[in-house]
Amino acid sequence: MINRNTIDEILNVTRVEEVVGDFVNLRKRGANYIALCPFHNEKTPSFNVSPAKGIYKCFGCGKGGDAIRFLMDHEQLSYPEALRWLADKYNIVIKEEAETPEDIARRDKRESLLVLNQFASRYYDQCLWQSEEGRNIGLNYFKERNFRESVIRKFQLGYAPASGAALSDEALAKGYQREYLLALGLSKEKDNGLRDFFRSRVVFPIHSLSGSVIAFGARTLSSDKKIPKYLNSPESEIYHKSKVLYGAFFAKSAMRQQDECLMVEGYTDVISLHQAGIENVVASSGTSLTHEQVRLVKRYTENVTILYDGDKAGVAAALRGLDIVLEEGLNVKVVVLPEGEDPDSFVQKEGSRVFLEYVKKEAKDFILLKTEMLREESRNDPVQKSKLIRDLVGSIALIPDPIKRALYTRECAVQMEVREQLLMNEVNKVIARKLGEQRKSSERAAREEEKMLEEQVQVNDDQRSERTEQQSNYYQERDVLRVLLEYGERKFDDENTVAGYVLGQCASYEFENAAFASIFRYFEEALERGETPRAEELSHHRDKEIQEAAVSLMSISREVSENWDKMHDIVVEEKEAIYRNDARSAVTRLLLRQVRREIEKNRKELVGEKDEERILLLLRVRQALKEQELKLTERLNTVIY
Ligand code: UTP
Ligand code: MN
Repeated sequence: MINRNTIDEILNVTRVEEVVGDFVNLRKRGANYIALCPFHNEKTPSFNVSPAKGIYKCFGCGKGGDAIRFLMDHEQLSYPEALRWLADKYNIVIKEEAETPEDIARRDKRESLLVLNQFASRYYDQCLWQSEEGRNIGLNYFKERNFRESVIRKFQLGYAPASGAALSDEALAKGYQREYLLALGLSKEKDNGLRDFFRSRVVFPIHSLSGSVIAFGARTLSSDKKIPKYLNSPESEIYHKSKVLYGAFFAKSAMRQQDECLMVEGYTDVISLHQAGIENVVASSGTSLTHEQVRLVKRYTENVTILYDGDKAGVAAALRGLDIVLEEGLNVKVVVLPEGEDPDSFVQKEGSRVFLEYVKKEAKDFILLKTEMLREESRNDPVQKSKLIRDLVGSIALIPDPIKRALYTRECAVQMEVREQLLMNEVNKVIARKLGEQRKSSERAAREEEKMLEEQVQVNDDQRSERTEQQSNYYQERDVLRVLLEYGERKFDDENTVAGYVLGQCASYEFENAAFASIFRYFEEALERGETPRAEELSHHRDKEIQEAAVSLMSISREVSENWDKMHDIVVEEKEAIYRNDARSAVTRLLLRQVRREIEKNRKELVGEKDEERILLLLRVRQALKEQELKLTERLNTVIY
């Protein structure tokens, strides 16, 4: 356990902007920094870091906190892990109270897994450098591949000995748990005992963005084709393959500085390039890219250059995986290396200068390369050609930026020798179809929500449960306030902002939730002064209750608008309609809820009433309420785009 003085020391030297800056591309704005939020997908920066206050805050998704919270949220570190990370960054020697075997057992699972991987990594490391077998076989292999000692150490390369259970035995003897060895895939069960998973292989530790070893890749030294060349750790609580790019930890600052990411296939490609001084490089590890991996790169740069081995199969694979990169709005270039070369062999043969010149000269825009290759393939074959055009159209439609999209459309039309207008129509059709799907699914979600509400009301009616009833009002109130905070300032119609509309509609509604009521009043007062308060103000509000409510409101996920943003501002008006609609339906649901409660109250009164005149009055009220209910339900069902 880390002692208290060490913790204080760490907190004293930690600078939030330096910590966040290790993971996010921060831009200075006044006294603060802004960036694209690393916690949600966005196009305009709403993520703020305030060095003075030592905090960060995303005004889009609501996440916020200090440097430690950032590490915990962003890197999924536990509190002690975050402290260790900071100590490492700021070169603070951690003073620990010595750990007993009980301490080891008590640690939470994630941390245990990380510690165990660290142990395994050290073990492989020692085998490589210190054991005779490791030096003769493993180290020798790396030397034959011209890896220098410094780069071997930097990447913490290791060696897993041939012996059946050397690592497992030592780990167990040191008090590491069998369960965790199995969870990490370091060991396999065999005849009631354990057997090492990696044997007779050189080992490549895979690091998280913060540098912890989260998995291993291990290469066989045998040329036997029946043995898999690489074995990789299985998925575990600390290793999600789809979210990791090999080398990213070592490439972070170079990617940012050079505003470019080179993407290669293999572990050894990354290492060789580093050795040659080219550090902005990550590896996809031979599988097709995922959205999460692309987003990881996007935190550092928008420019990706994918290097592919000089063979046809490699290029085909390259083109297949790339739509995802387009979709994330990155600029993608593809470089095909000379026949028979991979980045490792090419840079070793030619050196970094020639390598970089080649990359620069040969880098082809992805879509144009695709067009070029397709044109070759479909020469004089109209059927083939139209199929390929459809393929291209699909790729172009993914590009979020309309201007870029238009430029590509033009260029491809020229290359494929079709009319630009025709291609453009096709692209627009694809986009329109997607929009349609998008809209349908958000309508469906709204309908389902409404149905749930109806059911809940039904339940309430049946059980007469006041508590559930209040709870359900809570959600409607919350949603209305979310709308206020989220789009309050935007224009609703010719006379009103969204805030004006919401406040007008809900003027006679009495909020049950005290904090919500305060926020609502706060808005009302501001509006009377002709101002619209911003979410930001409220999150720094001195009244703790208001502040907390505001922060939690801002953190409610906003499926609709986020998805919408993804839909590539095709028609600006439509995008605007989404928030108007959101505002309208939030307000309507709240009012509807209210009317239904009054109808229920009225019903109860009617049942107990004997006085005929009273009954007539109550019936008239009931009639009016019913009419209101009908109007509101109709309004809810009219989706206005
Ligand atoms: P390569 O076969 O290109 O390997 O696979 P490499 O990295 O260039 O290795 P050397 O130079 O032959 O030693 C590219 C990547 O695909 C993954 C690994 O991540 C590898 O680095 N891979 C490959 C596997 O996971 N399993 C395999 O069996 C083969
Ligand atoms: Mn290779």
